[in-house]
Amino acid sequence: MLLEHELAWVDEKIYWEIYENSLKYPNEFWMRHMQDISWKKSPEIAFDERSGRWLPGGISNVCYNCIDRHAEKTPDKPAIVWYGDMPGERREISFAELQRMVVRISSVLRARGVKKGDVVGLYMPMIPEAIAAMQACARMGALHLVVFAGFSAEALAYRLSVSQAKVILTVSAANRGGKRIKVLDNVEAAVVNMERPPEIINVDTLGNVELDDRIAWLSESDNLFVLYTSGSSGKPKGIIHSALPYILYVATTFKVIFDIKPNDVYFCTSDVGWITGHSYIAYAPLFFGLTTVIFSGSPTYPEADRYWDIIEREHVSIFYSAPTAIRSLQMFNRKFVERHDLSSLRILGSVGEPINRSAWQWYFDVIGGGRCPIMDTWWQTETGGIVLAPLRTLKQKPGVAGKPFFGISPKISDNGELTITSKWAGLCRAVVYECGVAGNTTEFCENIFRKNYFKDGAFLTGDGATQDANGDIKISGRLDDVINISGHRLGTAEFECAINKIDEVKESAVVAVPHDIKGQTAFAYVVSKTELLTPEAKADIAKKIVAATRCCIGAIAKPDFIAFVPDLPKTRSGKIVRHILRAIANGESYENKDVASVVNSRVLPDLQAAVHNSLHCPDMCKLK
Ligand code: WTA
Repeated sequence: MLLEHELAWVDEKIYWEIYENSLKYPNEFWMRHMQDISWKKSPEIAFDERSGRWLPGGISNVCYNCIDRHAEKTPDKPAIVWYGDMPGERREISFAELQRMVVRISSVLRARGVKKGDVVGLYMPMIPEAIAAMQACARMGALHLVVFAGFSAEALAYRLSVSQAKVILTVSAANRGGKRIKVLDNVEAAVVNMERPPEIINVDTLGNVELDDRIAWLSESDNLFVLYTSGSSGKPKGIIHSALPYILYVATTFKVIFDIKPNDVYFCTSDVGWITGHSYIAYAPLFFGLTTVIFSGSPTYPEADRYWDIIEREHVSIFYSAPTAIRSLQMFNRKFVERHDLSSLRILGSVGEPINRSAWQWYFDVIGGGRCPIMDTWWQTETGGIVLAPLRTLKQKPGVAGKPFFGISPKISDNGELTITSKWAGLCRAVVYECGVAGNTTEFCENIFRKNYFKDGAFLTGDGATQDANGDIKISGRLDDVINISGHRLGTAEFECAINKIDEVKESAVVAVPHDIKGQTAFAYVVSKTELLTPEAKADIAKKIVAATRCCIGAIAKPDFIAFVPDLPKTRSGKIVRHILRAIANGESYENKDVASVVNSRVLPDLQAAVHNSLHCPDMCKLK
């Protein structure tokens, strides 16, 4: 297979030349890269500018490209190396073995009546079976719907029913950080009240299966998966990705940005529950036949050196992680890093949120030994793959995601929002809100996507950004009502939905505030039905709030601060004035803000006082 590296260590001048050409002649650029895909029938062109279609006429299969072709050529090469909760817990799965796992799972799915285009739920920890299950869906043309195993039963139930999943693949239990998590129990709790519950398939107990190794050959219009993510509404939305155009974009970005070589050992610390775990764990590394290391434990259990230990044991050359993980590990004594030989590392990556200067410097100096460039990759569930990343030069700018990938034309709008005006193959195809995937035509979901995400032909990212004289782009963060907690994208409205269900609560408003480790955390303003609350009553409601967010969303969604207020600032039409709430929660005075639109401005001094007296949830937990 072609591992083309002409684009790898280019200098600035050559980069801009290739970049300009990729925008002017997109078909030519992508024709070269589509050769990395093994085609059943090769498309004649990569991109048809007139119709906006990618890979028209092409026929192939993502799983074939990620697994079968390598199982033929390098059957014994490790495809996945898994580390469990304890340092000695390790499994190695060769490409041949992975192929057997995949065929077994897809045979079971077929036997249970799953067909091309059906939705298959997946709720599993980071184990090789999770990747095998995703690939099994890809093999038969079913769409996988992975739900992060940290989400609650209720959150799982919502996603399964909205997408009308036919079956849900899961396992009995998982160990993380020394605790046993009963995964299957959550799935059972999720389906119990569903009108049309999906059939539960426990991958631990598949039993004897009649093998059926057929591959569904897909065209450019077929889809690969649906993955839910948060936006401004109270419900998460399902993002639908194509199979072939998506894999072209994901594979090409991976190859170029991480400068991959056949013997690289790649370790990404994300989870299959997020888009990073889809694009750059389950798909891109396997597509190129690389060995990929996965880890289902906690980075600090039993000690804060799990990542560094794994890098040393496996001679990891490319390490892709997140600012929140880096910040939390930076807090520990350096001896945890220094006891390990990290000299195998060549390239580092970061994704999920802006990386602050101190974390960047520590990552560069202490983990990368000053040798490894940091690929600060900016992208989103919707973009499918990486959109902005620096060049691999060592003249890097900490905290600056940097340059657009080839074929990407970023434009910063007047209000400071990053938009993208070009077309690229990785962009999602459709989006599903409260109505089902199966219940709606693809056309309907595609139209909703276009309506919600585009303005004057430009894709709206929802992120604020600035661009320097070199064309390097720095991301400031979300401009909409999305909170990024430890790189987990959650909507403030989802929190409010959960909190407003509590009997004692009249209404609430949740905003983001900065957090040293998590990047951001949730700050909840709560108006209770009773005006005067005793400290005990407040603590009691606060406990219910933590329980409610855990139940509706998951443990990752705990608000860290709760302020009880008499009312929320509102406009004449009753809209909550969020920018004032955000400013006050961030310690600013409302006096410097534009409060003209607030009709009940007498509440503002009370808000400021309440923020000073807000309950900090860790303290609150001690009250239990
Ligand atoms: C944020 C994750 C700054 C951003 C792949 C985006 C980042 C949201 C970066 C998407 C980065 C991701 N620098 N911010 N390198 N990477 N983000 O959909 O706000 O889970 O809109 O996709 O994460 O989150 P999502």
